[in-house]
Amino acid sequence: MSGEPDLDALFTTAKAVQRRAYAPYSRFKVGAAILGDDGKVYPGCNVENAAYPVGACAEAGAISAMIAGGGRAIRAIVVIGDGAELVTPCGACRQRIREFAAPETPIAIAGPEGIRARFSLAELLPASFGPANLPT
Ligand code: THU
Repeated sequence: MSGEPDLDALFTTAKAVQRRAYAPYSRFKVGAAILGDDGKVYPGCNVENAAYPVGACAEAGAISAMIAGGGRAIRAIVVIGDGAELVTPCGACRQRIREFAAPETPIAIAGPEGIRARFSLAELLPASFGPANLPT
């Protein structure tokens, strides 16, 4: 893989999977799409639970799909949600993304009409802790 990731293709996948979200409690459906280092696109959506804290974010689902599908690194991720505000990843998901991404990896935030903002992982999670911080 080389060159700029196709964020528009990721947007299309994220928007399609957003409709499949299971969000009967918040009624806030979120979709995510990851471009893996293998060139494949991995979708994820939020999956809530009657025991509220057990619910899972869309980003976590997309990361699980990537690992299960054979990808090992995130080249780009698009997250989509409705409403006027940016659906930036929660703190826990920023850390989940960090495990598989580089500081410059793009994290694009979309609404129904398209991509609204683009950040790097380092912007969303500065001075982060990762695998290299652990003693060998
Ligand atoms: N949610 C995500 O899936 N990703 C985000 O980036 C923000 C929040 C979900 C969690 C919960 O199911 C719903 O949105 C409301 O917080």
